Amino acid sequence: MNQNFDNIRHRSIGTVEFVSPKEIKVILETDAPLSTSLNTGVPQLFPRVNGILLVPNEAGALIGIITWIGIEYSPYPKRKGYKDFDLVDLPFPLRKLSLSPLGILKEKDGKYEIERGVYSYPSVGDIVIVPSQEQLKAIVQNKDENARIKIGVSPMAANAAVFVDPDKLFGRHLAILGNTGSGKSCSVAGLIRWSIESAKNESANNESVNARFIIFDPNGEYGTCFKELGNVKSYEVKIREEGEAQQLKVPSWMWNSWEWASIAQASARTQRPILRRALREIKNSQNVDIEKDNKIYYLRRYYSSCLIEIKSDLNKGVTAFKGKPGKNDFGKKLKSIINDISKDIENILDDEIKMEFNNVKNKLKGIELNHYKTFTNENNETIEYYEDFEKNDIEEVIKNLSNLLEPLGGILIYEGPDEDSPVFFKNEDFLAHIERLAQQANQQQYLDFFLMRVRSLFTDKRIASVINTETSSEIKFEKWLEEYIGSNDNHPSITIVDLSLLPSEILYLVVSVMARIIFEAHHRYKKQTGQTLPTVLVVDEAHNLIKRYETEDDNISGQRLCTQIFEKIAKEGRKFGVGLVLASQRPSELSQTVLSQCNTFLLHRIVSDRDQEMVKKLVPDTMGGILNELPVLPSRKAILLGWVTPLPVLVEMNELSEEQRPKSKDPEFWNVWINKEERNIDWGPIVYDWQQLKESNERENSNDTP
Ligand SMILES: Nc1ncnc2c1ncn2[C@@H]1O[C@H](COP(=O)(O)OP(=O)(O)O)[C@@H](O)[C@H]1O
Ligand SMILES: [Mg+2]
Repeated sequence: MNQNFDNIRHRSIGTVEFVSPKEIKVILETDAPLSTSLNTGVPQLFPRVNGILLVPNEAGALIGIITWIGIEYSPYPKRKGYKDFDLVDLPFPLRKLSLSPLGILKEKDGKYEIERGVYSYPSVGDIVIVPSQEQLKAIVQNKDENARIKIGVSPMAANAAVFVDPDKLFGRHLAILGNTGSGKSCSVAGLIRWSIESAKNESANNESVNARFIIFDPNGEYGTCFKELGNVKSYEVKIREEGEAQQLKVPSWMWNSWEWASIAQASARTQRPILRRALREIKNSQNVDIEKDNKIYYLRRYYSSCLIEIKSDLNKGVTAFKGKPGKNDFGKKLKSIINDISKDIENILDDEIKMEFNNVKNKLKGIELNHYKTFTNENNETIEYYEDFEKNDIEEVIKNLSNLLEPLGGILIYEGPDEDSPVFFKNEDFLAHIERLAQQANQQQYLDFFLMRVRSLFTDKRIASVINTETSSEIKFEKWLEEYIGSNDNHPSITIVDLSLLPSEILYLVVSVMARIIFEAHHRYKKQTGQTLPTVLVVDEAHNLIKRYETEDDNISGQRLCTQIFEKIAKEGRKFGVGLVLASQRPSELSQTVLSQCNTFLLHRIVSDRDQEMVKKLVPDTMGGILNELPVLPSRKAILLGWVTPLPVLVEMNELSEEQRPKSKDPEFWNVWINKEERNIDWGPIVYDWQQLKESNERENSNDTP
């Protein structure tokens, strides 16, 4: 038995009678305290579910949390020796309790230390003691010297303060889970507030805190709760002039080709290649500014990008050129290139170029015809298809296209931005360009739907206010990063992105673009400076934005893109200083990839079985016991577990004053019913606004953007 715990044997309150890795059962002594234990010097409620007890053993003392208390009738009274016989041996109620082992408490140089996990179990007959005040504090208080932020107190440990280390809390992602109304949003707001407040006290630079928090706020709750705390910027879709929030801007030139494809529902086969090319070219033309009549330059650019596309397909492996009859991409692509060459030949004046074009056309035609096949199906229709192209066929095509480019000045390699770089362009120019390309490739029919969708986005007033690119006060990329992520002179920076009024069509797009740009910005910051820029990305109601998705399918959906970028941030963000905080009431609907990357959990009340099961899977088996309390936690109380705390602790979070809390706006039925609050109904303007989206665009355009 460990020496250090020997002196406290007089605090023994019972003995172990059953041991398994998950559960230790204890019989209380007849004289163990009944409601208040005084034997540690300070009154403690005892025995109580969730109370902590120690079982001294050879390694120190096993820490157990009480999960069950009950009475069993023993046939005989508890005897302390043979002398205690009563005249009649009556059955005697024996109090028992059950402990869930949590870890080991050790004493080292007069200080207590905690070890996670249990490797040595007690045996039957071992005594069980009530921990002293000091020991309790050691267990809940986190003696880690970097644990600087006080987030609350632990009611089960005589209200000892609970501290956390911000590097651990935010550095390895935090998930705050619990039912609606259980206090998640308050905890989010609180953690941000208490972190900044603690940092102000210790800042080496005059209370200036170089912290960045970016909050995706689907319910529009956080608008006012950080006032006076720092540089708070909120963005929303402005409907009215008043209010401090600014118009949210995620202009379309910031989107990458995947994001474009998701919003335009572009198909992989025909639309995406054109889309990518159009983006690449429009983004480049911003720098080059070619004269319109420069036919040679145009041809050179067009065939260069054909060539680059085929080369990159080849790099992906020849399988790209195989397919079932009628489905072979490459044959069609080749045919359309040949058609383009034939058309262009007519307009070429230079003889040398004309000859080369003819040469190449014939060679490519030869390759095409070699693979061209037809058959007659059961309906007597002739079906055209291409046989698989082999690697050397593709190489031959590449060689010929290079020859064709020779007299034009050789292949034009884009040195500028690729299709995914955030380079400014105007939506109108982009649409015009894509139309021109579609005509060239003879593929208007595939692009009509795409163009229609994009146009309708740009003409919807509310959507356009977020994504348009034409306003005179066009915000520059650098400025965008300064405003949304942070700059040198606004510390600490809290950015609130209110998504509540965002039209649902672009919700996922806007969040994916922002999350991606924020992530990339940090990635590039590290690449250039060698240092990480610590920033916390907060997602409330995360199950909406980071939803688990089913198997792969070819269509890119906005929802999936959005989940994928957060999965990437969850996996790699740490390297670049990006920490995630998620709050959700439906852990079972969240992306499991993201959830499994979270190293700290703050669990509020969770009632649903499915979500409880889910949460239990995230923690080690031996700690399951403490989670039994999840369905009955009052608001403000939560169980903290994971990386920041050696043992799971029940925390009563610090109190936030009314104005510091996020304002969840539940509809107020009663006050409206009894006319305490006025509600007028006039559908007229609403209908007008509603129908206008589709019908009278003229009026809108003349109003310009809001
Ligand atoms: N730390 C806290 N300080 C003060 N009140 C709190 C705190 N945590 C929760 N509450 C109370 O609980 C209510 C619900 O909290 P909220 O964060 O909106 O829940 P959720 O986001 O889980 O739906 C709040 O309106 C507030 O009254
Ligand atoms: Mg909430």
